[in-house]
Amino acid sequence: MSVESLRFLTPEQTRTLASEYGTPVYVVSEDLLRQRAEETLSFPAPFGLTVRYAMKANPNRALLKIFAGMGLQIDASSGHEVQRAMEAGIPAGHLSLSAQELPENLAELLDLGIEINATSLNQIRLIGEARPGRTIGLRFNPGLGSGGTNRTNVGGPGSSFGIWNEYTAEAQELLDTYNLSCIRIHTHIGSGSDPDVWMRAAGLSLDLVRKFPNVTTLDLGGGYKVARMAAESSTDLQTVGKPVADALRAFAAETGREIHLEIEPGTYLVANAVSLISRIQDKVDTGSDGYTFYRLDTGMTDVLRPSLYGAQHPLVVVGKESDPTETEEAILVGHCCESGDILTPAPGDPEALQPREVATGHIHDYVVIEGVGAYCSSMCTVGYNSFPPSPEVLVNTSGSAKLIRRKPSAQVLWANEVTD
Ligand SMILES: Cc1ncc(COP(=O)(O)O)c(C=O)c1O
Repeated sequence: MSVESLRFLTPEQTRTLASEYGTPVYVVSEDLLRQRAEETLSFPAPFGLTVRYAMKANPNRALLKIFAGMGLQIDASSGHEVQRAMEAGIPAGHLSLSAQELPENLAELLDLGIEINATSLNQIRLIGEARPGRTIGLRFNPGLGSGGTNRTNVGGPGSSFGIWNEYTAEAQELLDTYNLSCIRIHTHIGSGSDPDVWMRAAGLSLDLVRKFPNVTTLDLGGGYKVARMAAESSTDLQTVGKPVADALRAFAAETGREIHLEIEPGTYLVANAVSLISRIQDKVDTGSDGYTFYRLDTGMTDVLRPSLYGAQHPLVVVGKESDPTETEEAILVGHCCESGDILTPAPGDPEALQPREVATGHIHDYVVIEGVGAYCSSMCTVGYNSFPPSPEVLVNTSGSAKLIRRKPSAQVLWANEVTD
C-alpha cells in the first residue's frame, strides 16, 4: 500500500493551523462542501427535487447555514436536532423529523410546521393523538438494507428502523383512526450502501407509494457511499438516480401521479470536506517481533469510526518543520486508556490491528486524519477520560480560516455535578 497524501490541506497550512489553533483541530473546507452540495442538487428527478442535509452527520451551524444558503433543507433525527437547526436559523418548514424516539414537545414542533415521518405504527398513533387530521410521512423498512458495515445497515428484518413493509394495512387503519393523510413515503436503508441494493430499495419504495393514494413525495433517504481511501469507490449520483427517474416517469405515465423526490445525504455532503490535525505525542514499540505505535493526541474522543466499525481513514504524517522522506509501518492509536482506541484497525474488524505504511513520524510531528466530516465530531466518545471536544475551523472560499466551534475547558464535563 502506498502512503496517502493530503486531500485539501497543504503541509504548510497544516503547520500554520496547528500552531494557531492547537491540536487536535477539525478543519472544514467550504469549497468541498459547496462542490458536493452542487452535485446533490443535480440528482435526477423529473418532477422536482428536495435535498435534505442529514444533520446528524455533522450539525455545526456553520455547515447548516452554508447548505441552507444553497437551497438544501434539513433531515433531523431527534427533537434536539430540530431545536439546534432552528437556533441556527433554519425555518421550521424546511425541517423534516424522522426519529427513533419522538420528542416530548412533539405537538409544539408540529404546530411550528415541521414535516414528520412516523417510523413505527406506535408513532402514527402518537402523532395522531397529538395532532389529528394533519399530513404525515411514513418511514418504511422496505425489506432489505445495505451499509458500509453491518452496524450501518438499517434495513431488512434485522433492523428496527421504519415500519415493516408488510404492515401497510395496519398503517392505513391508524391513519384512518386519526384522520391523518400520508403524503410522503420514506425509506433509508443504511450508510455507505451498495448502489445496486439502494436502487432495488428505491423500486420497492415506489411500490409502497402505490398503496397510499395521497402520497406526493418519495424520500429515498441517504446512504450514498463515499470513498475516503484511495482504493475505495464513491457512488455516482447520476448513475443511481437515472433508474429512479425512469421509474418515476413510468409511474406518472401509468397513474397520472407526478411524484416529487427527496434525498437525505449526510456522508456524501461532508465526509471528505473535513480533516483532523492531530499530533504525535509519543512513540513506543513492542520489540523486534512487535509493532511500532504512534500515540496521537486524539482518538475515539474525536474519531470513533475506526474503533466502532473498523472504518479506514487516510492518515498523513506532516513533519513539524519539514516533510518526512522515509516511510515505515506503524499502528496509530488514540489517547484513551482503552485498547480499542485505534486508528488503524483491519478493515471492518475493529478488534484486529493492521499496521499502516506512513511517512515516518516523530514525537511533535502532525498526523492529519482525513475523511472525518461525517459521524466524527457528532458521534464520538468526547468526555471519556475527561477529554473535552476539539475545536472546529472553517477554511472559507477565499482560503482564510475562522473558528466555528471553540474548544471548551474540560470543566464543562463536570460543571453540572452536584456537590453536597
Ligand atoms: C433517515 C436518515 N436519512 C439520512 C441519513 C444519512 O445517511 P448518510 O450519512 O449515509 O448519507 C441517515 C443516516 O443514518 C438516516 O437515518
